[in-house]
Amino acid sequence: MPGKISVSEIVVEPLSEKHKTLLNGFKSFEKELVDFLKNDALDNQEKKISKTHLFFHKPTGKLSGYITLLTDKISLHAELKEAFKKKGINYKSLPALKIGRLCVHDDFLRMGIGTHMLDWTVFVIKKINEFAGCRFITIDAKRNPDKSRDSIHFYKAKGFEIYKEREKGSTPMYKDLSKLSEE
Ligand SMILES: CC(C)(COP(=O)(O)OP(=O)(O)OC[C@H]1O[C@@H](n2cnc3c(N)ncnc32)[C@H](O)[C@@H]1OP(=O)(O)O)[C@@H](O)C(=O)NCCC(=O)NCCS
Repeated sequence: MPGKISVSEIVVEPLSEKHKTLLNGFKSFEKELVDFLKNDALDNQEKKISKTHLFFHKPTGKLSGYITLLTDKISLHAELKEAFKKKGINYKSLPALKIGRLCVHDDFLRMGIGTHMLDWTVFVIKKINEFAGCRFITIDAKRNPDKSRDSIHFYKAKGFEIYKEREKGSTPMYKDLSKLSEE
């Protein structure tokens, strides 16, 4: 197993025009996520659809991963609705922050970069909560024909729960941030 990279070795930068050329060096087995970063991330950002941040590995200066966030809500279906009712919460839906895209460069897999990006997302939600309510992180977890590359393993390891099982495509998952203090 490769060694873990510590948070002090990471620099986070908001995606901007100045990064355009270095994006060409980004590699991932999930081609769609590479294409999004190279072709759409900046455009979506300019249109205020989503916001992307780049995670650089300080010692090598390499782009180790990126994360794209947007606002979201989670509808409380039967089981969740009941669970929240017991907590005195009677709404049909609750506010969330969605991880629209999250991808680690192939050379940095299993070194803790994905974990740092999730920890950073929690930091972002804490900031948002100073101004507006936000309770969940949501994600449509990518599946891969090669099960060992399925991102569901990662999100489960990080305390996410499955919102809805689907036969095909991505699996919607969520994490209730009120549980953070219990971890
Ligand atoms: C999913 C992904 C983001 C994980 O990032 P990562 O930096 O490699 O993950 P971490 O090193 O932080 O892993 C943390 C823990 O998650 C679990 N995990 C991560 N990848 C895993 C895998 N392929 N299989 C099983 N468990 C996995 C492990 O428990 C791991 O801890 P360990 O390495 O000490 O055993 C990365 O594999 C990736 O970018 N995949 C391609 C794109 C993608 O699927 N993105 C998500 C969908 S939007």
